[in-house]
This record gives sequence, structure tokens and C-alpha cells, in this order.
Amino acid sequence: MASSARDPDNECVISVRSLTKQFGASTAVADLSFEVVPGVVTGFLGPNGSGKSTTMRMIMGLDTPTSGTALVNGKPYGALDWPLREVGAPLDAKALHPARPAHDHLRCLAYSNVIPLDRVDHVLGPVGLAGVEHTRAGKFSLGTGQRLGIAGRCEAIPACCSSTRPAPCPRGASRSPACCAPSPDRASRSASSV
Ligand SMILES: Nc1ncnc2c1ncn2[C@@H]1O[C@H](COP(=O)(O)OP(=O)(O)OP(=O)(O)O)[C@@H](O)[C@H]1O
Ligand SMILES: [Mg+2]
Repeated sequence: MASSARDPDNECVISVRSLTKQFGASTAVADLSFEVVPGVVTGFLGPNGSGKSTTMRMIMGLDTPTSGTALVNGKPYGALDWPLREVGAPLDAKALHPARPAHDHLRCLAYSNVIPLDRVDHVLGPVGLAGVEHTRAGKFSLGTGQRLGIAGRCEAIPACCSSTRPAPCPRGASRSPACCAPSPDRASRSASSV
């Protein structure tokens, strides 16, 4: 018999539940819950030091939650068979081999994730790297390196792409990060972005 019960973990690209991270006595993320659903560009905002990057790192399996869960397509990142095909996150614009040209960097990612190599040429143009694809990544400016990071995360057309970058925050804003999404009719893409 089919169950009609709603299962948010099977509907959400990202599901964060009661997520908490402590570094010693310091609490970086406190009991945070949100969901990112398919087809909606979702913003994740908060003041400096409010725990955005730590939350992203826990979603991407780079930090271990003290308690709570962070799931991608219903699984912890470490349980995904081909993570790059399901979620992309250029969290560190400098996480590139400085001697490797952009084109080769993207080919390495494609090859190691069994993604067709012709995807490399498809993503270079849209991120604005056409013409510099044979330049070594170590010579890129911060912004150009960020473009290469985004290109790498778009190669597999993952269900979800997470990014982190600083943004000004109004005075008096809450110290906790918050998720927000535009109305669904403004989001027509099949992938989700945070
Ligand atoms: N590895 C760590 N060890 C100890 N404390 C940490 C560590 N990483 C982050 N923190 C602390 O956790 C808190 C949240 O940091 P986090 O980098 O997640 O904030 P953020 O919202 O991304 O800030 P920003 O807007 O400046 O990027 C901060 O107080 C920070 O000092
Ligand atoms: Mg940060």
C-alpha cells in the first residue's frame, strides 16, 4: 500500500535539521533547520561569523556536526555515490592546483567523476573563462578563480550548487543565518542553488 505521508528528505535537495556545531566551548551553529527544495534559488544569509560557512562545510561533509543532520538528496554527503553529480560547492576559491591550467583542472574533475569530457567546453563560456582556459590557475585573480570553482561545480549539472561569499548585512540583524527563497513562479530552473 502506498503511503501518503510526506517525506521531506525525499523532496528536498538539501535538508538541515537541528544542526549544531561547537568548536570547544564556542557554538558556531545552534540548532539550525531549513530545507532547500528543487527548482528554487535559495539565499542563505547572515552576519559575519554567524555560521554560514560552517553550515556549508557540514553539508559538504567537511565538518562533522556536533548534533543534528545535514542531508543532500536524503543522504549525508559521505554516503553519496558520485557527490559531484549531486551537489557542487566552490567553498574555497583558492582550492586549485596553481600550476594546472583551467581547462586541465576541469578535465581532471570530469575524468575522476566519470563525466563526459566535452562538458568542459560547455561550462567555460557561461562562467566567462573562454579565452583563459589554458592559463594556469595560480595566475588567476580571486574572482577568476571563483569562476573556475563555479565551472567545476557545474560540469556535472548537479542537482544543487552551494556557494559562499561575503555580503553586507544590515545593523541589528539576527546573529543566526537564515534561508530565504523567491516566490516559486520566479524560479523556473530544475536545479537548486544556495
Ligand atoms: N575551525 C574552527 N575552529 C574554531 N572556531 C571556528 C572554526 N571555524 C569557524 N569557527 C568559528 O565559528 C563561527 C562561525 O564561523 P563561520 O566561518 O561559519 O561564519 P560565517 O557566517 O561563514 O562568517 P563570514 O560571513 O565571515 O564568512 C565563528 O565564530 C568562527 O570563529
Ligand atoms: Mg563564511
